[in-house]
Amino acid sequence: MYRTHTCGELRAAHVGQTVTLAGWVQRVRKLGGMTFVDLRDRYGITQLAVDDKTSAEIRSVVEKLGREFVVRAQGKVVERASKNIKIPTGDVEINLTSLNVLNASDTPPFTIEDESDGGEELRAKYRYLDLRRNPVKNALILRHRVAQEARKYLDAQDFLEIETPFLIKSTPEGARDFVVPSRVHHGEFYALPQSPQTFKQLLMVAGYDRYFQIVRCFRDEDLRADRQPEFTQIDCEMAFVERQDILDTFGGLMKHLFKIILDVTFNDVPCMTYADAIRDYGCDKPDLRFDMKIKELTKQVQGKNFAVFDSAAYVGGTCAEGCADYTRKQLDELTEWVKRPQIGAKGLVYIRWGADGIKSSIDKFYTPEELQKIAGEFGAKQGDLILILAGAKKITLSGLCELRLEMGNRLGLRKRGKFAPLWVIDFPLLEWDDETQRFYAMHHPFTSPQPEDIPMFMDGGKEELEQVRANAYDFVVNGVELGGGSIRIFDSKIQQQMFKVLGFTPEEASYRFGFLTNAFKFGAPPHGGIAFGFDRLCAMFGGSDSIRDYIAFPKNNAACDVMIDAPSRIDDLQLKELAIEVATEKE
Ligand code: AMO
Repeated sequence: MYRTHTCGELRAAHVGQTVTLAGWVQRVRKLGGMTFVDLRDRYGITQLAVDDKTSAEIRSVVEKLGREFVVRAQGKVVERASKNIKIPTGDVEINLTSLNVLNASDTPPFTIEDESDGGEELRAKYRYLDLRRNPVKNALILRHRVAQEARKYLDAQDFLEIETPFLIKSTPEGARDFVVPSRVHHGEFYALPQSPQTFKQLLMVAGYDRYFQIVRCFRDEDLRADRQPEFTQIDCEMAFVERQDILDTFGGLMKHLFKIILDVTFNDVPCMTYADAIRDYGCDKPDLRFDMKIKELTKQVQGKNFAVFDSAAYVGGTCAEGCADYTRKQLDELTEWVKRPQIGAKGLVYIRWGADGIKSSIDKFYTPEELQKIAGEFGAKQGDLILILAGAKKITLSGLCELRLEMGNRLGLRKRGKFAPLWVIDFPLLEWDDETQRFYAMHHPFTSPQPEDIPMFMDGGKEELEQVRANAYDFVVNGVELGGGSIRIFDSKIQQQMFKVLGFTPEEASYRFGFLTNAFKFGAPPHGGIAFGFDRLCAMFGGSDSIRDYIAFPKNNAACDVMIDAPSRIDDLQLKELAIEVATEKE
């Protein structure tokens, strides 16, 4: 028998028992005539003690132990002379009666401690060692719990977990597909699903009116802290529902998970329209932990000979409470910050309401009364600083959104442990792209217009189509889009119009989506659904901004797995079988 107990199990109540433990050597410490070995497994650490009464044989094994050796230890549980209150097993230690090395270990390339000395890249290369560290282990335990709780909740609501295939035909969700060449059908490819979107809709047609799946999705897109090329969704779909049913059901799921995982209670999740979110926060995923609403000033400030404002399509600002004492240097630094390419502002205008009155970087153009009036728009008071950006509308609003978040960070208003959930609704259905001169679906091509906008969608020209609102919703917490979904089109005429609006010829639409439009001819029920970003949800529960910490084997920023060295070349024979020619690199 390898073990009778785990390394996290023994307490004072076990004193006197003979036990066998197995695990990894965390550390060997010599203290006078005593040697202590910290033995670690997934469950904790137990101290093994060796003194001059321990057999010579055991002592010689201990002499040779190195970090991360795998051993089996047998001995008697005794009360420790000096207890360690920091660990649950700290009351006891094991007086060894036998010790076997089950496997030696090379010296690990970094320390397997809560604070490791290994850099990110090294830890990624030896991810299996990194996974032995407590913070990473705890992240995976959290992930497991969230998955189990989601399953329990959805099962109790009659949702069936049904798997859908990975080798499919492309499902457009706005990113590039990862494709898999077919060996049997040369020149043909499967696509890995960006989500199970069309399959879950087909399940609704098939009558499985409540579906869910905790499922891997694949998207070939630019990576960020909250994006991985393969990530996991809690993907859900329901038949015979309207938007409110979905918001209730999945708002309920979120409430349940926040309560059970974090013991955070929130009442009904508020709804905000997309238009209001953009107007007040500059983006469609506002962080509502703090106020600092954006105000538009365009009309109010134009016509005073200040060319920057006069030539701008949009002027707007936000008020940073208590920041009037910002120094010239701080303001210059903030100006450089908004000018970075990620923000893209041309400059920053400020109005400072200090003890000596209102001062601004635009004093030349505006009277103190006019500046006072602008300050009034924000409800500003003495001590506050107003920050203003001007330019093209979209980019200025998104710059203000970033500036608001940055000031929120600097002012400590984005508190960890505080959660502000929100449904964002009434997204535009379509987005016009000037470059390609066509519409794109803002969510995906299966999203239904709002019922009252359907006539406009069926008959409208470009201008009307831009106005059509989608019956779509995002679940946002603290500025993070945790989930998104929509009520679907279930009428094949509306679906065909969607494909037409998106620029597909009837032949293309039938080639790519014929399977779905055909299915809709056989009794498709009204349906809708949502998918939550499971990795993002776990990162939020764990208090981290990076989803990578919550994935056992994540990819790096360059979409590579440096541990297994993927992607990598395949051999010529495989290529030949797939009838793929690859230009070989000449050294
Ligand atoms: P959507 O594309 O909005 O919707 O995705 C749903 C949620 O998945 C998460 N997410 C990601 N997480 C990590 N890495 C990524 N690359 C990534 N991309 C998306 C986000 C997002 O809110 N089929 C629809 C859902 C539906 O309509 O039911 C869909 O996939 O948290």
